[in-house]
Formats: sequence, C-alpha cells, structure tokens
Amino acid sequence: MANQKAEAPKGKLGVLVVGLGAVTSTFMAGVLAARKGLAKPVGSMTQYDKIRVGKGDDKKYLHYKDIVPLAELDDIVFGAWDVYPANAFESAVNAEVLKAKDILPIQEELEAIKPMKAAFDKNYAKRLDGDNVKDCKDRWDMVEQIREDIRNFKKETGVDRVVVLWAASTEVYVPVDEKVHGSLEALEAAMKADDKEHIAPSMCYAYAALSEGAPFIMGAPNTTVDIPAMWELAEKTKMPIAGKDFKTGQTLVKSGFAPIIGTRCLGLSGWFSTNILGNRDGLVLDEPANFRTKEVSKLSTLESILVPEDQPDLYGHGNDEDTQYYHKVRINYYPPRNDNKEGWDNIDIFGWMGYPMQIKINFLCRDSILAAPLCLDLVLLSDLAQRAGRYGIQRFLSFFLKSPMHDYTKDEVPVNNLFQQYVMLKNAIREMGGYEADEEID
Ligand SMILES: NC(=O)c1ccc[n+]([C@@H]2O[C@H](COP(=O)([O-])OP(=O)(O)OC[C@H]3O[C@@H](n4cnc5c(N)ncnc54)[C@H](O)[C@@H]3O)[C@@H](O)[C@H]2O)c1
Repeated sequence: MANQKAEAPKGKLGVLVVGLGAVTSTFMAGVLAARKGLAKPVGSMTQYDKIRVGKGDDKKYLHYKDIVPLAELDDIVFGAWDVYPANAFESAVNAEVLKAKDILPIQEELEAIKPMKAAFDKNYAKRLDGDNVKDCKDRWDMVEQIREDIRNFKKETGVDRVVVLWAASTEVYVPVDEKVHGSLEALEAAMKADDKEHIAPSMCYAYAALSEGAPFIMGAPNTTVDIPAMWELAEKTKMPIAGKDFKTGQTLVKSGFAPIIGTRCLGLSGWFSTNILGNRDGLVLDEPANFRTKEVSKLSTLESILVPEDQPDLYGHGNDEDTQYYHKVRINYYPPRNDNKEGWDNIDIFGWMGYPMQIKINFLCRDSILAAPLCLDLVLLSDLAQRAGRYGIQRFLSFFLKSPMHDYTKDEVPVNNLFQQYVMLKNAIREMGGYEADEEID
C-alpha cells in the first residue's frame, strides 16, 4: 500500500475548513493572491522545496510537483464553517494579520466564501459566542448535518475531491476513554446516545469527512482523530488522517533545536517556554481547560527527542523527582500583540563535568503567517496520499505537526525530531512519485 504511485488528479479540489478565523483567512488570502501573481507562498514546502530523487550519477533535485502529481493552486475551491457569520473578507479584516493592500485585490473572492453553520457546543469553547450554529438533536444528527454540507458543497461547486481541515479553536481537553473511543462501534453508539462529554464537535466533523470520502487533518491539538475508533474508520473508508496541531513557532524551534543538544551529548536540566498572544486563539487558550489540550501537545515534543531513560546522565536530572529535566510551557493572553506572538525559551544546559550554561531564544513571530503554508501543504499532501492509496495515520506529515499521531496502544514512539521527520516526508514523496525510499545523505 505504502509504495503505490499517486494517480494524477482530475478536476477541482474542494478545501473545506472548519473555522474561518485568523489562520484560515490568511491561508485563503495567500492562495488567492498567489494565483493572481500578487504574493509568493513563502514557507510552503510543496511550492518551494526541492528534494533528491535517484542516486549516484542519476540523482537530480526536483520540486515536489515534478515528482508527484500535486493539485495546482488554481484547482482549489474553498469553503468553511464557523460559529460567527463573517465571510472570509470580513474575517481577514477582523484578524488584522494582513494589510489592506494585500486583502483588497482579492476582496470579491474572499467575500464569496461564507461560512456554513457550525457544529458547535459551547461547553467545548466557553469564550466563543457566535450564533451561526446548527441546531442538532444529538451528536449523530450533528454528523448527518455535516455530511449533508459536504455533499451540497460538492454538488454546488462541482469539485471532484474534498479535503477537510480543522483550523478552528482548540476544544477543551478530552482524555481518551477506551470504552467510548476504543472502537468504531463504541464511538457510533456514543454519538447515537448523544454522549456530549466524550464526543466533541470536532469528532463529528472528522466522522462526517471520512464517511464522505474526504481526508481529515487536525490542525489544533484536539483528541478528535487521535483515537482507535477513528483509525478504524479511516481504515474502513480508506481515507488518510493527519494530526495534531500545526507546528509553527515555538515548537518548530524546539524540534529543530533540541537535536543540537542531543547530537552533541550536552546535558539538559530545564527548558522553560513562555508566550504572549493576543488573538482569538489566545483568548480561547486563556481558559484552563482549553489550554490543557495545548499543553499536552506542546510538552510531548521534547520528551521523545531528549529521552531521560536513554541518557540518564544527560537528561535524568532537573525536576522535583530528579528523574528528568524540568519542562514547562506557558501561554498568556495579551491583547496588544494580537496575532504577533512573542515566544521566549530559556534553556538550561550543562556541559563538561556538569558546568551549567544557558541559551535564550526570543522568537517574534506571526502565528497565522507561519500556519498558512502548513495548511496548504497538509491539504495538498493529504489529497495526494489519498490518490496514492494511503490511508489511516499519515506519519510522513509529522513534519508539519507538533504532536504527531501514532499508535499509542502499541507503544509506538512518535518521531518529533524535525530532521528525522523531514527524511520521512522526502521518502513518502519519493515513493508516491514511483522512486525508491532511501537514506542517502543529500
Ligand atoms: N497560528 C498558529 O501558529 C497555530 C499553531 C498551531 C495550532 N493552531 C490552531 O489553529 C486553530 C486556529 O487558530 P486561529 O488563530 O485561526 O484562531 P481563531 O480564533 O482566529 O479562529 C478559529 C475560528 O474557529 C471557529 N470555531 C470554533 N469552534 C468551531 C466549530 N466547532 N465549528 C466551526 N468553527 C468553529 C471560531 O469561531 C473562530 O472563528 C486554533 O485551534 C489554534 O490553536 C494555530
């Protein structure tokens, strides 16, 4: 299955995004502007990266589109759901990520993207208060209504294929409960029994997407498709799933920087990461139950790169228990900064004979500017994977994600090291292009 060459795309690609906020409006505006030659899709691997195919004298470096049959930007047709009725133009203006000069030339196309009513439950994001919301009898009815939206979107736009991407707010933390999330049968029964505690609205979107033959990508840290029941559904419907949580600012730095410490066998006694953020995402994450979801995702990155059990002298000291370095992540809502997040990392390392040193990283980033190219790449590569007959968890997409999905029921260890993730990405592209996977040095 994994080595199948991808079929060429036919017709248009529908991209249905859950949540039409800062990230989504920036993603859509960038694609529409790039199509008109008004902006460059900087940061997108599918548009810029070149990888090697072949070995020795036969080797050449090609763009992804010259290796695999990717959908073109011109073939994308957008749609969305949101709790608030603002169209993509209004949303882009409200988000204050992009300047008027970048939004006005595509105003008409953005205005045409009007959000469908959201499948929403206020208990999952207390700080949101919109009224563009579906009236659902129960969770099963929620699924049915979303499925109908997808079918209608396909009919109205005439797209050939659809990918569903979650770029909506982070939901409150839903711990995996084996009894409900352990099998597809149990999940369906819980949806029919309207079990609101264990079935988040995001699960209804995912279930609907996979049932309608659309790959599903989870851009927030929500539990959603990270449960055996959804893996079973993805196997059954032969659809790719990917998640969780876009790897944009601080975690990108962490998964790129931690390998430096690990590769040189330096010690780590603590890593303190803090952020200030003032957009709606920051507002939602100010709620402790929503932040918990993010915290779990952000913490997981380091632990599989610098593993205390493997190197107790280097990583086995630092916290209260003295069994591991101290690792803390904080996000504080601070409105004046809006989408321009500032992240500070203080890294306490030690060297020869245990002598301590410090590294400070101060990243003044733009959250949605970093997330938009990931949306594009995840969408195009999930569509490609589906055409190559790949289904279930797409581990090669871990490169783009903070908390890569993996089969924790079999104790699988996720790959968090950015450079190992890049090898997985390159090899998947090679295989889907009909080349052999390899581990040659470029
Ligand atoms: N920007 C980044 O760097 C980054 C990185 C990783 C993850 N994320 C995640 O991406 C998501 C989007 O971020 P953003 O800055 O665009 O946030 P945002 O608050 O601007 O937009 C999210 C939108 O989702 C809508 N929404 C919430 N629940 C919904 C539901 N059930 N159905 C439909 N719409 C719903 C909200 O009304 C809001 O308009 C967040 O979960 C965020 O944590 C962002």
